Amino acid sequence: MRGIILAGGTGSRLRPVTQGVSKHLLPVYDKPMVYYPLSVLMLAGIRDILVISTPGDLPLFQRLLGDGSSLGINLTYAPQAAPRGIAEAFVIAAPFLDGEPCALVLGDNIFHGNHLSELLCTHTRLTDGCVLFAHPVADPERYGIGEVDTAGRLIHLEEKPVTARSNLAITGLYFYDGQVVDIARGLRPSPRGELEITDINLHYLAAGQARLVNLGRGFSWLDAGTYDSLMDAGQYIQTLERRQGIRIACLEEIALRRGYISPDDCYRLGERLSNSPYGQYVMDTAHSAGTLVAAP
Ligand code: G1P
Repeated sequence: MRGIILAGGTGSRLRPVTQGVSKHLLPVYDKPMVYYPLSVLMLAGIRDILVISTPGDLPLFQRLLGDGSSLGINLTYAPQAAPRGIAEAFVIAAPFLDGEPCALVLGDNIFHGNHLSELLCTHTRLTDGCVLFAHPVADPERYGIGEVDTAGRLIHLEEKPVTARSNLAITGLYFYDGQVVDIARGLRPSPRGELEITDINLHYLAAGQARLVNLGRGFSWLDAGTYDSLMDAGQYIQTLERRQGIRIACLEEIALRRGYISPDDCYRLGERLSNSPYGQYVMDTAHSAGTLVAAP
């Protein structure tokens, strides 16, 4: 399975904060926002990942993340010339996907919870249809909303309903089979001129090929697209990291634990950032993982 991070858009709800920099490069406490969705794809075991952003911002993502080889993954980049909707990502990604199933994650979505990696890995084997991940929210009018029957099967989907039929938001993480590019190519733009992800999902739903996984209370799902949600996300991460002494979405740690890089590689990555607590954490993590040749 291949991965796509969509980190485009104008960040208009965060202006003037986003006048000079992409929303997805803003800090969520101790690391750039894009680390969080990238960590989700890495936890799902996905190593071939396309980052889509605006032509102006793309070089900044490349400067931050490079080709991914230092983390044992392959990162490539493609521009989205104008904000024409989430579903356009599949049209842009068509040559990269080459008919393979894929996971799309939105660049401002943050997922955290126990056994997230195991949960995701059970769905990366998907060969037909799509898998959507839902989480309860207090403000359903801001999201794509799903309705399920008594057996938990998805029966209805609506984008930003005025009157919501449930509080189950469809999160910004989606797994699709190889049909998704053709479905995206066949979409008509919505009244706001965008190719809507919910229209893709409705297509799978109508074909009886959409599955919903309710993440439920054991997980946290945050987005960071407004002043308050960005602040909330930062404080959430700060609270957990300070209390537990762990770091959430530490890419170097995930690469190490998945065996993509050695403790030595990990230590060297931490050393480059050693003036920061994040860098120290990466070095400490490398230390506790094994005997280091490079350690002083
Ligand atoms: C998008 C999707 C929506 C989904 C949300 C998750 O909304 O259209 O269905 O629930 O992401 O973050 P947007 O944030 O682009 O308004």
